[in-house]
Amino acid sequence: METTQNQETFSIPRIGDKAPEFIATTTQGEINFPSDYKGKWVILFSHPADFTPVCTSEFMTFAHLEEKFNKANCKLVGLSIDGLYSHIAWLRTIKEKIKFNGMKDIEVKFPLIEDISMDIAKKYGMIQPGESKTQAVRAVFFIDPKGIVRALIYYPLSLGRNFDEIYRALIAMQTSDKFGVATPADWYPGNDVIISPAGSCGVAAERMSGTDGLECEDWFFCTKKLDKDLVLKEILKN
Ligand code: BEZ
Repeated sequence: METTQNQETFSIPRIGDKAPEFIATTTQGEINFPSDYKGKWVILFSHPADFTPVCTSEFMTFAHLEEKFNKANCKLVGLSIDGLYSHIAWLRTIKEKIKFNGMKDIEVKFPLIEDISMDIAKKYGMIQPGESKTQAVRAVFFIDPKGIVRALIYYPLSLGRNFDEIYRALIAMQTSDKFGVATPADWYPGNDVIISPAGSCGVAAERMSGTDGLECEDWFFCTKKLDKDLVLKEILKN
């Protein structure tokens, strides 16, 4: 998708697109994106700038949850519109001084991209000039093991992200891939899942006359049980 504002064109990768490629300097060395992450899910997320309070609370939360995301075969990669030395100083300050929501002494071990030129942020539509021309909005890209963008969520500068939702979305997409199902509103592992709508009158009639293991409200709305332990066993193998 391309939008033009103030003469400059900004693009936003869409669901189903290949994740735009880049090579970046990060707090963990150089990364070649997305090829370094082949075979893994990646959450690529942006922050407006270093040394800002909402970003600090989010960074600490992501770092606190990193292990949990890694267990779901997912790596975290952050981006903030600042330089490498600022990033290093910010992460050191977070570890040494900041307490938030019961967290303290938090070490950020995942890469934080330096993007002072905003080149990468622009590739991912993270600069949204109506909000800020110099700071990235809070974007979250879910990129699958084949390097395809599977979901994106954008938040404005003033709104800290909900990490339960980010984790829930990751597990739900992995469950859809693994079990060939869709997940309904507010789904969590252990809740019933949705099977694809009947594609023919015959299948519709069959479903309404009762198919083993399915609960059909109507021909187009059928759910089935999916055991929580089975989902978690398959998804959290790592
Ligand atoms: C923050 O992270 O606190 C923040 C950054 C940019 C604008 C507003 C808030």
